[in-house]
Amino acid sequence: MTDTMSLSRRADALEEKMAQELEYLVVKSRLHMLAEADMGPPPNAGALMKRNPNLRVLMGDDPRLPAMPEKPTLIDFFKYRFGNSMHLLQSAHHARKAGLPEKMVLACLLHDIAVLGFIRGDHGYWGAQLVEPYVEEEVTWAIRAHQVLRFYPDEAVGYEYPQAYVALFGADYRPDPYVDEDYKRMRHHKWYMSGRQITMNDIYSFDPDLHVELDEFTDVIGRNFRQPSQGLGFDNSPVAHMWRAMIRPAKYL
Ligand SMILES: [Fe+2]
Ligand SMILES: [Fe+2]
Repeated sequence: MTDTMSLSRRADALEEKMAQELEYLVVKSRLHMLAEADMGPPPNAGALMKRNPNLRVLMGDDPRLPAMPEKPTLIDFFKYRFGNSMHLLQSAHHARKAGLPEKMVLACLLHDIAVLGFIRGDHGYWGAQLVEPYVEEEVTWAIRAHQVLRFYPDEAVGYEYPQAYVALFGADYRPDPYVDEDYKRMRHHKWYMSGRQITMNDIYSFDPDLHVELDEFTDVIGRNFRQPSQGLGFDNSPVAHMWRAMIRPAKYL
């Protein structure tokens, strides 16, 4: 009996300790447990460790993520870093079926890469910046513009304000003033229709029954994306650090 009670008390104590460490534990369990050796306590951090025994720092590869090749290509990011990319594949598929030029098929294939690998808010701006050194100026312009244009209908080409946004943001939602200003600039730009094309292939591209393989676009990527020989993240471009952030997203410093 005493043994049982002490066991149950010990279980309580353990549970309390676990609750205190919840954030740490949730992260650990969600990512399927780390080998402590892979993400160990910081060396020579005695005082820090006393205050926070769970302190962990990560300066190398993240053991929770698939290893990346030394010289990663765009396709490696699709395979090893981006989440489910079916939305992008379907968008590119639609663009190709609609007979758009190859560079626009690529623009549709890449239009949401910031959402998949980096950040959601302002993802058109981030995504355009990520690919800017490697694609034609029109492609990066169109990716940036899709962020803005999707909030504005264009009846002439049959683009309506997305019902999904009414459901998500409410009927009263208005884009931020900077989006409005960008719209006015983009509306009369020579590449307006390229940005608009992304929004048109975007809206209709969620199809649970349409399976598209990345392989179908290997040639489009090869001809329209200037893959740096040193690998994305290591070519000393103005955006290399952004690709490195996707390779090691939890790097401590
Ligand atoms: Fe988007
Ligand atoms: Fe999209």
